[in-house]
Amino acid sequence: MHITVIGTGYVGLVSAVCFAEMGYEVMGIDICDKKIAQLNNGEVPIYEPGLEDLIKKNKSRLKFTTNIQKGIEFGDIIFSAVGTPPDKDHKADLSAVKAVAKSFGESTNGYKIFVNKSTVPVGTGEICKKIIQNEVDRRGVNAEFDIVSNPEFLREGAAIKDTLNPDRIVVGTESKRAEEFMIKLYRPITRTGSPVVNTNIKTAEMIKYAANSFLATKISFINEIANFCEKTGADVTQVARGIGLDKRIGSRFLHAGIGYGGSCFPKDVRALIQKGKEFSFDFKILQAVVDVNDRQKERIFEKLHSHIPNLEGKTIAVWGLAFKPRTDDMRDAPSIRIVKRMQAEGAKVKAFDPVSMKVAKGSFANVNLVYTKNAMDAAKDADALLVLTEWDEFRTVDLNELNRVMRGNYLFDGRNIFEPEEAISAGFNYVGIGRAVKRVESSSNIKVKINKPAVEEVIRIKK
Ligand SMILES: NC(=O)c1ccc[n+]([C@@H]2O[C@H](COP(=O)([O-])OP(=O)(O)OC[C@H]3O[C@@H](n4cnc5c(N)ncnc54)[C@H](O)[C@@H]3O)[C@@H](O)[C@H]2O)c1
Repeated sequence: MHITVIGTGYVGLVSAVCFAEMGYEVMGIDICDKKIAQLNNGEVPIYEPGLEDLIKKNKSRLKFTTNIQKGIEFGDIIFSAVGTPPDKDHKADLSAVKAVAKSFGESTNGYKIFVNKSTVPVGTGEICKKIIQNEVDRRGVNAEFDIVSNPEFLREGAAIKDTLNPDRIVVGTESKRAEEFMIKLYRPITRTGSPVVNTNIKTAEMIKYAANSFLATKISFINEIANFCEKTGADVTQVARGIGLDKRIGSRFLHAGIGYGGSCFPKDVRALIQKGKEFSFDFKILQAVVDVNDRQKERIFEKLHSHIPNLEGKTIAVWGLAFKPRTDDMRDAPSIRIVKRMQAEGAKVKAFDPVSMKVAKGSFANVNLVYTKNAMDAAKDADALLVLTEWDEFRTVDLNELNRVMRGNYLFDGRNIFEPEEAISAGFNYVGIGRAVKRVESSSNIKVKINKPAVEEVIRIKK
């Protein structure tokens, strides 16, 4: 079986490589000359753990080209994994998907299956079918084809594991022939247990949006609970554990923080709301999810300003720029807005991220940001430290040493990676998200107002 994957970004490249790992001959296509040149030189254009090794391992079964016609002629099955970014009205921009469907219609030369792997709004399969049929009719060729929706659920940072060992594979199609083809294609994965959910095309398209919207809802929910914890003296991390152990709720996506970002949740939740409007449907819950998330991004500034009202001339260290750990993806990363705003308010910002600094330079093109070679260098002589991405290497830092190298003692933990008591004992004025202090050790140089409910109110005098 020959497989073509069009769009070799975070989803397309990982899919292509994993199909090769399953033993298929794979051709990856992209319009970006630079990306294809890099891949043909053995370089990996994105950071994804394990990807480089898997590409090397499957080199003989992987080809990359910008020639889309060649790609469509090559594949028995053509995956479209191009981007579907938001347009100016927050709808999914389908121009790349439509362009790929048109190319498919222009070049298909026998029975082939067109698979939408990109996240596309309900009804896109029908649109692609019409585009392809028009091209096939225009050419007057007898080229049969079927449409499948096979949305992707991988997480950046764990993309290979998620692709080779998915929770489920969703296959939406109206064609028995295509369904059997897809079942055969995924057999190397399904034989070890991953279930296939067979649906019609529209249902498969909806499953993807419903999944992302639900996960975003969990995040906004716990952020709202965190904000209320701050008012009452409860601790959100313990609340999350207490509810997450209930199997009906589950513990994942219950980490309070500075709001969700990234290339999927922000655009997909808004795109579903917009799709609803086309049907005069009002997604009340999802609008609240977006509003809570927008407000959460402001909360970190409220916290910052309540302790350091004037940022002019202050040095602020930032740990983490990527929207989440184990990726270099900067799309819609909360750090972009936060860093730019601190800069605009006159702060000098020093930042460190273990992998995304090269990509970040594009996101901060006109920002005078100082990039450092490690986390401690960023913190050196800083008045305050902001943790914006929960990289593991930040969790294990020596807090006493950290406090020693800093000028000030404010630790704004936007991801709740530290225990308040440990940070306070190390001399920090700790500000987390919805945290409370469990117990207070008495010490001659620690002064704590224990009557105040939230950690933000806990004052620590720097040694
Ligand atoms: N990134 C994720 O974690 C993730 C997870 C699940 C689903 N998705 C969805 O998968 C899709 C792709 O996401 P991504 O993160 O891989 O995007 P990406 O931007 O990393 O990759 C898209 C690729 O498509 C290429 N491209 C654009 N137009 C093209 C065309 N006409 N012909 C050939 N190539 C073209 C781009 O050059 C780019 O390399 C999106 O719909 C996204 O919502 C993403």
